[in-house]
Amino acid sequence: GANSMWGGRFAGGVNAIMEAINASIGFDKRLYAQDIAGSRAHAAMLAAQGILTEADQQAIDAGLTKVKAEIEAGDFPFSPALEDIHMNIEARLRDLIGEPAGRLHTARSRNDQVALDFRLWVREQCDAAITGLEALMRAFLGQAEAGADWVMPGFTHLQTAQPVTWGHHMLAYVEMLARDKSRFEDARRRMNECPLGAAALAGTSFPIDRHATAAALGFDRPTANSLDSVSDRDFALEFLGAASICAMHLSRFAEELVIWSSAQFRFVRLSDAFSTGSSIMPQKKNPDAAELLRAKLGRILGANVALFTVMKGLALTYSKDMQEDKELTFDAADNLMLGLAAMEGMVRDMTANTDALASAAASGFSTATDLADWLVRELNLPFRDAHHVTGSLVKMAEDAGIDLPDLTLEQMQSVHAAITSEVFGVLGVDNSVRSRVSYGGTAPDQVRLHIARWKEVLG
Ligand code: ARG
Repeated sequence: GANSMWGGRFAGGVNAIMEAINASIGFDKRLYAQDIAGSRAHAAMLAAQGILTEADQQAIDAGLTKVKAEIEAGDFPFSPALEDIHMNIEARLRDLIGEPAGRLHTARSRNDQVALDFRLWVREQCDAAITGLEALMRAFLGQAEAGADWVMPGFTHLQTAQPVTWGHHMLAYVEMLARDKSRFEDARRRMNECPLGAAALAGTSFPIDRHATAAALGFDRPTANSLDSVSDRDFALEFLGAASICAMHLSRFAEELVIWSSAQFRFVRLSDAFSTGSSIMPQKKNPDAAELLRAKLGRILGANVALFTVMKGLALTYSKDMQEDKELTFDAADNLMLGLAAMEGMVRDMTANTDALASAAASGFSTATDLADWLVRELNLPFRDAHHVTGSLVKMAEDAGIDLPDLTLEQMQSVHAAITSEVFGVLGVDNSVRSRVSYGGTAPDQVRLHIARWKEVLG
């Protein structure tokens, strides 16, 4: 038969394939709590404005409580024929309370209803991301504190560049994650306007109080343009954008963990809890969680690109295309939260191999820059000349198969006669990192300064 919600205009029922492509209940049932909260606020406002009787409003409120309990108990009769969560709830409300249910949709459309529900959901996800990021920042901070002065190689091009401290490397991620957090905070602030009351697209002739519903639902204010209210999805795009950047950061550390946990590096040992074995090779301990985290970015960024593509060609205001916003965003949010939690566990549980870190830090002529700086400071060489002299010394050591500190003073003086034995003082990795005291540099004192700052920020 014809859909009971708009049966007046329709004679025949829908084709089964039409029902399959049109129904969103399979995924938007996740919005049930937001939908009910929105309906409650709407009905309370309608009653306060004299648009609905107190008795009807109370019946609606009690009915919605029942509906919510049924959904949470898992015995709600979800029906694809009723398309989506909004109509499933309203139809069930009518079963439960009869005629007053039909008055709930006064001065409302599914267009502002879904805009509201989805916005409430995304707003919650911003809060969840912020909480997850804070926990992950604390995990990195714990590692930084443990190893504020452990020396390891710093890389450019994945080639040994200069020695750095473990704490400094961990704090680099704290900085990234703090920016991620502020992106979610920003997005949340911007999306915190209530679209309810925009109705289908033009507003309504009923004397509604949008300020009241906005306040009841925790928004800063109602949205100011009804057309924009029902067609805007940039709040979701901002969430996905922030999520993509955050997932990219997680992916970069995941890549470092894959490299660092390899037999060739042995910089870290991942806990058994976040690794797997091989069904054939008994020696294997694979960093699966890190690899999956690296891949999660693909999904999250994919959702971002997909929703962009859905939205870019839509004339104002609502088009059914926009129903495709939810599955993508749900999936991206689920995977982001899972990724944050998994990364937190891996970071908290990983063990640095300080011996491997230290010996890697000392290899690869990592203190060549310190040597060049010494030539500038002590012998007053122009930096470019010092660079050249140091390059010759590196070549000499490399040809001999030794490291810079293993060159004799005579060998050094054969390249530049004024070099003294004092030079050996700057060739050690500990001296190297201790000397990098510029603000934000890798010196343990700087690292401790910023650990203290972040501890204060995170409370
Ligand atoms: N299920 C729909 C969605 O997710 C709700 C809005 C439907 N509005 C409409 N005019 N068909 O977008």
